[in-house]
Amino acid sequence: MTAARNEPPVVLRRLLPAAGELTADELVEELRPWEMAGPQRPHVAVNMVHTCDGRAAVHGRTGPISSLADRQLFHALRTRVDAVMVGAGTLRVERYGRMVPDAARREQRRHAGLEADPLAIVVSGSLDLASDLPLLQDRASRVVIITAAQHSLQGVHAQVEYVRCAPVDLAGALAQLRRAHGVRAILCEGGPHLNAALLAQELIDELFLTTVPVLAGAAGALSIMDGAPLQAPLGLSLRWMVEHEGEIFARYAIGPARQPRPQPA
Ligand SMILES: NC(=O)c1ccc[n+]([C@@H]2O[C@H](COP(=O)([O-])OP(=O)(O)OC[C@H]3O[C@@H](n4cnc5c(N)ncnc54)[C@H](OP(=O)(O)O)[C@@H]3O)[C@@H](O)[C@H]2O)c1
Repeated sequence: MTAARNEPPVVLRRLLPAAGELTADELVEELRPWEMAGPQRPHVAVNMVHTCDGRAAVHGRTGPISSLADRQLFHALRTRVDAVMVGAGTLRVERYGRMVPDAARREQRRHAGLEADPLAIVVSGSLDLASDLPLLQDRASRVVIITAAQHSLQGVHAQVEYVRCAPVDLAGALAQLRRAHGVRAILCEGGPHLNAALLAQELIDELFLTTVPVLAGAAGALSIMDGAPLQAPLGLSLRWMVEHEGEIFARYAIGPARQPRPQPA
């Protein structure tokens, strides 16, 4: 995912809650997820993009379904959290680098009272990560890797720490990040297997979902959550809806109730 900072800001059309025109940076200004964290774990928001037929990748990448507007919102959201979390599959394929490469966006973070660079959190059961991944080579990046492995990565220049648990215990790791690292708000950028694991343990509070006006086909391709089915469909509450050239950017809260919905007679 490349930075979109030097491109002119796209003007988005907000449909809900109040109609208006605004850029991605203006849209996220109201977000203060660090104030929504409980004492046990950070507030967790997931940000994903998918097609109208529910595909989260085309030929194994998000690039073909992402747009300039989506990338601007993607980077703007990173200015509003303590940490950005990603699964190893996504890190390998998308070859993440420094989470906020743009100095002006780091300044936006400081202005919001956050560290200039968010903590990067990687979930990798195996720790089978190439040391030449740009994020791991970046000296400015602080990275916490949640892993079941006992070894450590060699030849990396980022400041890397490990939260070790075998098997990986996401709830326990998030509690440790809250307690020991002071992480209050996490933006999880997938991928689908990590999202599903978080969802199954009720560790997701919000979903930012971009729906692009595209059909991809490709039976069996990943959706935004790729895990075992939940016991019952989980309700979402729509917080905002924004449009640009037919692309819909929605923000949902998980819930209000984690109860099975009444089934039609
Ligand atoms: N549309 C979007 O917005 C979006 C966003 C992100 C990714 N994607 C796409 O999704 C695809 C990658 O999907 P993915 O589901 O494989 O990615 P993923 O969820 O990022 O990575 C899966 C890997 O993460 C680790 N992991 C995740 N949850 C774990 C758990 N509970 N315990 C232990 N390890 C865990 C494991 O790593 P190890 O293998 O190291 O054990 C696992 O193999 C790519 O095509 C990418 O482009 C799309």
